[in-house]
Amino acid sequence: MGNNQDSSIIYLRGLHKCYWVGTMPFPALHGLDLDIAPGEFAVVAGRSGSGKSTLLNIVGALESADSGRVEVLGQDILGMNSEQRTRFRLHNIGFVFQAYNLIRVFTARENVAYVCQLQGKSRKESMEIANHWLHEVEIGHLGYRRPDQLSGGQQQRVAVARALASNPKLILADEPTANLDSMTGRHLIRLMHELNHRFGTTFLISSHDPDVKQAAGRLIKLADGQIVESWEEVPEPPQSLSASCPANHLPLGERVRNYIKTRKQSRARKRRGGNQRRS
Ligand SMILES: Nc1ncnc2c1ncn2[C@@H]1O[C@H](COP(=O)(O)OP(=O)(O)OP(=O)(O)O)[C@@H](O)[C@H]1O
Ligand SMILES: [Mg+2]
Repeated sequence: MGNNQDSSIIYLRGLHKCYWVGTMPFPALHGLDLDIAPGEFAVVAGRSGSGKSTLLNIVGALESADSGRVEVLGQDILGMNSEQRTRFRLHNIGFVFQAYNLIRVFTARENVAYVCQLQGKSRKESMEIANHWLHEVEIGHLGYRRPDQLSGGQQQRVAVARALASNPKLILADEPTANLDSMTGRHLIRLMHELNHRFGTTFLISSHDPDVKQAAGRLIKLADGQIVESWEEVPEPPQSLSASCPANHLPLGERVRNYIKTRKQSRARKRRGGNQRRS
């Protein structure tokens, strides 16, 4: 257990990482220090090769570092074995990747539900949670389609729904808009921003995209594996995508229960309507 979970969701000190190809070193991070507070919408920018993905992968416990201190949610990531890392990722972190990384033979709903099933939830409950999040990202009507039957923007929304379905405190998104046209990318970033506001989920996003940088509550600029600039500003509130939602600030369990209740009521109404028509 680390010391910084009260103040920082991410706490990095003196982080070093060098890749080796044979005897050739490829330095990626040089003594990087960073603190991210809970609820931040932080964007890591920097040229290709500056170390953005390496940073996200280490924070996400996907890769190890050579030296330094890495605490995420107060947990010492570098001190974990691979089984502990897997469990930590599954219960605490949602990932959104540039290439969506959806399972091609699963429907959108199954892709989102899968992560809940890995967490030990039943298939039925997982499917209900998946429906809830697909609605939140405004593609609830497309849950039956497989990834190859969806546009890039829709696939990335499935990936965002999947990232949120595990109820993580932190979402790491590596170039989430890089494969999208600029309008679709802007919609996606506005959606992520709105989810950050509504649910308080912390986002750490790597991007070259000027629209993403503009949306940043905090912009962290990397060059040659070091932070060269980091500034904060209060961003413009995003245009609302889903008007007002009375359940905005309820905990996940309650939101899902409300969602299931509404679905049951609407099914019952439909059944009653059908019976009346038949009689
Ligand atoms: N598996 C690897 N083997 C060798 N070198 C690597 C490997 N992964 C990354 N690197 C090197 O580490 C440095 C940082 O790479 P990283 O992928 O973190 O950069 P990035 O900022 O994400 O770049 P991009 O914007 O192109 O995605 C680069 O010099 C890169 O060549
Ligand atoms: Mg990268």
